[in-house]
Amino acid sequence: MSDEILLTEESGGIAIITLNRPESMNAFNRLMLAALKERVDNLYFRKDIRVVIITGAGEKAFCAGADLKERAQLDETDVRKFIFTIRNLFSSLEALSKPVIAAVNGVALGGGTELALAADIRIASANASLGLTETRLAIIPGAGGTQRLPRLIGVGKAKELIFTGRRVSAQEALEIGLVNKTCEQGQLMGECKKMAGMILEAGPIAIEQAKYAINAGIETDIHTGLGIESNAYWLTIPTEDRLEGLKAFREKRKPEYKGK
Ligand code: COA
Repeated sequence: MSDEILLTEESGGIAIITLNRPESMNAFNRLMLAALKERVDNLYFRKDIRVVIITGAGEKAFCAGADLKERAQLDETDVRKFIFTIRNLFSSLEALSKPVIAAVNGVALGGGTELALAADIRIASANASLGLTETRLAIIPGAGGTQRLPRLIGVGKAKELIFTGRRVSAQEALEIGLVNKTCEQGQLMGECKKMAGMILEAGPIAIEQAKYAINAGIETDIHTGLGIESNAYWLTIPTEDRLEGLKAFREKRKPEYKGK
């Protein structure tokens, strides 16, 4: 395996980003944070890439959160910088103009679970376990975990998991709605690609606008949310793709969307 800290594979409209520090359970050090930030920023305007899958190298870990060995060397200012950077990074991943699927291939702890939470869809292999374990280190989730977990699974369950720092199995994660789907480890990438493939069949502008409407709308009251939905819908009306969808339906064939 390459010694690059992040691996990227691009094909057929899908970019697979692999956190590549398996010897450290793919924990985030400052170098990997910077590399992921650059990759995410770069993907924002890439029209040829329409779905991103993010995973971890090796068979044991998706991501074990912050690199605790590096953390022990940082002074307070550098710890603040790290938290500031990782929080903003996960927010830009959440706001990416295309769907992000987290392929949770093993342990996802602390920032690892927060990374999965910033993705749009989470698919976990049967051996995965997830947890916001920070309070056990006398800190709190700092990359969105206190905000995204309760929005996803409800306040009561999120409080339980954050206060206890308990890890949940893939099966329990599925039951509480923390992941969308589970599968055998060997099938994880196939499952993610299958879901990505279905997304690729849909209109790219529609997907971008649907993601925006959901993300922005969920943070507001329903009336404002419906206004956001309405504006997002308007953007899809004057598109070539919308006409292509109608034409393909009439001609009983699959549409060929161009993102125009
Ligand atoms: N930062 C840096 N190194 C880490 C790490 C982290 N977050 N998590 C694991 N590693 C390293 C271990 O130190 C070990 O390296 P070593 O062989 O040089 O000692 C290697 O990864 C393998 O980890 P190990 O603990 O031996 O494997 P395990 O299967 O017994 O346990 C974990 C795996 C992930 C459950 C365990 O390492 C762990 O609890 N890590 C801390 C996770 C955490 O609390 N993250 C939240 C940070 S805010």
